[in-house]
Amino acid sequence: MHISAPAFVALMAAALTLAAPTEPNPSHRKTSLEDGKKDLSGKGKGNSNWKKHEKIFHFDATYIVKATPEQVINTTQTPAPGQPGAKGLFKYAINVAENTICYNITLSGITGPYQSAALTATHIHEAPEGRAGPPRIALPNPAGPDGRRVSAGCIAGPFETGIDGADGVDTGVGFHVRQIVENPGGFFTDTHTRAYVPGAVREQLG
Ligand SMILES: *[C@@H]1O[C@H](CO)[C@@H](O)[C@H](O)[C@H]1NC(C)=O
Ligand SMILES: *[C@@H]1O[C@H](CO)[C@@H](O)[C@H](O)[C@H]1NC(C)=O
Repeated sequence: MHISAPAFVALMAAALTLAAPTEPNPSHRKTSLEDGKKDLSGKGKGNSNWKKHEKIFHFDATYIVKATPEQVINTTQTPAPGQPGAKGLFKYAINVAENTICYNITLSGITGPYQSAALTATHIHEAPEGRAGPPRIALPNPAGPDGRRVSAGCIAGPFETGIDGADGVDTGVGFHVRQIVENPGGFFTDTHTRAYVPGAVREQLG
């Protein structure tokens, strides 16, 4: 399910900019009605300052991932370097309760068409460093000129990748973003192009 209202994306992007740490942040303070009721002026009802204290979105964890060609491996788990000089900045923010992941991806130095058997060629896969593993989330491919391709938005489960696992079931089925928060090192993000099918850039989330 794609949430594509431009205003939502813009607000989410603003929230992403503020969300700096790359580690899961379970102590992330939740907004609550109590915050809203707090009357800082002491003047009672009619004070609308409370809106300033509300958070727009809640994220349980954020990840800032710098992906490189060196991390790419092929299906026999042998290093298979991606596009020389290419870089990917993959920024993610996760809301577990809503099974939602927001992304802001910038690819630089990636040229030529994307290529993948999945629904898109930009993914979060489940596997540790140096290992191959199934895509769990297919993200929209960053668009734009070869020098700088970007994409930003949010996706909520249920997820679908277009790839069937050994059991014949889509590898996104049943996946929940909670699994990433619980073990970010067990996931990596990458993008695949026709010239670099195993991956143009790749990096672990944790
Ligand atoms: C995405 O992040 C880049 C910096 O990496 C920032 O310049 C850009 O404004 C962000 N895009 C959105 C839609 O927030
Ligand atoms: C993976 O890369 C190695 C080393 O380049 C190569 O020998 C092997 O054939 C590749 N395997 C696949 C499935 O591409």
